[in-house]
Amino acid sequence: MLAIIGGSGMTQLSCLEITHRQIIRTPYGEPSGPLTFGKIKGREIVFLARHGHGHTIPPHAINYRANLWALNSLKPTHVVAVASVGGIRADLTPGKMVIPDQIIDYTYDRAFTYFDSTDHPVTHIDFTEPYCQITRKTLLEAARNANEVIIDNGVYAATQGPRLETAAEINRLERDGADMVGMTGMPETALARELGLNYAAIAIVANYAAGRGTNKNVVPLKEIYAVLDKAMFNVRNVLEHMVSCYVD
Ligand code: HPA
Repeated sequence: MLAIIGGSGMTQLSCLEITHRQIIRTPYGEPSGPLTFGKIKGREIVFLARHGHGHTIPPHAINYRANLWALNSLKPTHVVAVASVGGIRADLTPGKMVIPDQIIDYTYDRAFTYFDSTDHPVTHIDFTEPYCQITRKTLLEAARNANEVIIDNGVYAATQGPRLETAAEINRLERDGADMVGMTGMPETALARELGLNYAAIAIVANYAAGRGTNKNVVPLKEIYAVLDKAMFNVRNVLEHMVSCYVD
């Protein structure tokens, strides 16, 4: 079963024929909302809106541990996270879709690990390649089959939010090697690895990052939602094709 985590602009998945919803409690508390089960082209899918059904949970207040724990309890074959980002690299213009291959963590004060107990031996995870390569390739194949242009590779910078960045912060992120910036990639990506989930992300460029492109002095927030609304059509198209690209 494919699990999809929807981000800003995707609080529901309109191509999903919903069968039922389930509230799952976890040792880490409640996920962002009930899990929505359904089918896309006859294949079973589970969907979770990261920011809650009404988009009320800000990035730093999301219970990432509960979200990933709940999805992991269903043993999904792949987890695809949809996330909006600001574009830093020149070709990452609003509306583009990217499958990131690397991530840098600038977040703080978030519950970021399952391995924080002092009762067990210290556990480390390998995170050299933070995203599942098979899930990334499956997404790229789905995009090809769907005739959608999708950019392969990019470094995602995860910032704390909920405010957007200053232009100087974006310059710093670029110097660090970041191509795009978002607020939810961490600790979600690391927690997925801790659980051994096959996790990858589709990043949707919602806006030029601060100080970039047409946003030299201000990031027009109203335009972000219009861009995301439009791009969700393309994301759904990729996801609809993804279900034919793997075996459960
Ligand atoms: N910065 C951080 N997160 C974002 C942005 C941005 O410019 N756009 C969408 N999510």
